[in-house]
Order: sequence, then structure tokens, then C-alpha cells
Amino acid sequence: IFKAAIFDLDGVLVDTAKYHYFAWKRLADTLNITFTEEDNERLKGVNRMKCLDIILEIGGVSLGAEVKLELAEKKNNWYREYIHNMDKSGLLAGAEEYIHKLKSQGVLTAIGSASKNAKAILTRTGIIEAFDVIVDGNMVQNAKPDPEVFVKCANLLNITSDKCVVFEDSQAGIAAAKAAGMKTVGIGSEEILCEADFIFTNMLEVELPLF
Ligand code: G6P
Ligand code: MG
Repeated sequence: IFKAAIFDLDGVLVDTAKYHYFAWKRLADTLNITFTEEDNERLKGVNRMKCLDIILEIGGVSLGAEVKLELAEKKNNWYREYIHNMDKSGLLAGAEEYIHKLKSQGVLTAIGSASKNAKAILTRTGIIEAFDVIVDGNMVQNAKPDPEVFVKCANLLNITSDKCVVFEDSQAGIAAAKAAGMKTVGIGSEEILCEADFIFTNMLEVELPLF
């Protein structure tokens, strides 16, 4: 029934969600904004500038466009330092095996990520070749929960949305996939991802009778 699996990257295939959090937290500290792990859920799946807007909103701070660009770049530089030495060990357990299993069954595979660093991470972890299509933050105008990133994946794969299933660790990503008319698999906690059609704690647990 399903012809394609579209994977979010950060927090689904690679263990980078913590580095995004560390870098945003560091930035929030410099701005004297209290930023908690709970607040951080709102940033998952959301593009860089929108993340910054959310943090500034939490702190009740309003800044000009130029300063905001500088702050976002500062965060990205810290983030890139954190992921600089990333290799295969940065892959989340079960992720690579599951992708290869799907491919051996003839399922198409894609990346649908908000990150502008997606290709660098896929290269470093050695899995870039495993995907038929990669859509990242450089290729879309509208951030998740807008469905653009996933719709673009389906278009490039040349299949309809109802043949796609999306793997996501974020609320914004589940909402985006649903808005695209796709089935959703939440990877993480049931409490946070309750809107998903299926939920598994991690990629090792995924067992779908879908393909
Ligand atoms: C992912 C993460 C977000 C991050 C976004 C943009 O979706 O879940 O937390 O803000 O990518 O990442 P970037 O690497 O472009 O700053
Ligand atoms: Mg994610």
C-alpha cells in the first residue's frame, strides 16, 4: 500500500536534537531568557528563524531583523561546532537498518528536513546514498507545520501523498505530514506525539505492516 517512506532527520535518524537544544539554550542564556527543555519541544521541526522568534517571544524580547540574523548565525556556528566530529555513531539505533530493510522491499526513501545542515549531516554519517530524494531547509519557503517540505518530497518521488508515510519526532512535523495528506509515524514519547497514526519509542521498535 505504501510506496514511500519520508524521514525527518534530526531526532529521527540522527541524534542531533540535543545539539540544537544546547546551542539554543546557550543563545538564550546570553540574552537572559529562561529556556527549558519543555519550551524546546516547540522548536523541533521548526526552521532556524522561527525557532529564534519563539525564544524571543518566550523572553518577551523584540529585536530588529539584522540583529536576529546575527543571533541565528551565532547559534548555527555553535551547532556546527557540536556536530563537527559527527560520524556513523551519531545515527540513532535501528535507523540505518530500517532504511535498508525498506529499500530491499522496493520502498522509495526520502528525507524531509527543515535543516539547512541536513546534507552535511547525511554525508558525515554515511547514509546520504540511501535516499532517492532529499528535501532540506534550503529548498522550501514555508516551515513545518506547513506541508511544503513533504509535498515536495512526493512530487520529486513522482507519487501521490496517500502513498507516503512520514517518520517524525516533532509536533510541527506530524502536523505538516497530516496537512500533506500522509500517514504519520511518531518517533518518541506518546504524550508529545499523540496526533500521529502510529507511535514508537525509537527506530529499533518500528514494526509496520505497511510495506
Ligand atoms: C530541524 C530541527 C529544528 C531546527 C531545524 C533547522 O527540523 O528539528 O530544531 O531548528 O531543523 O535547522 P538548521 O540546521 O537549518 O538550523
Ligand atoms: Mg526532528
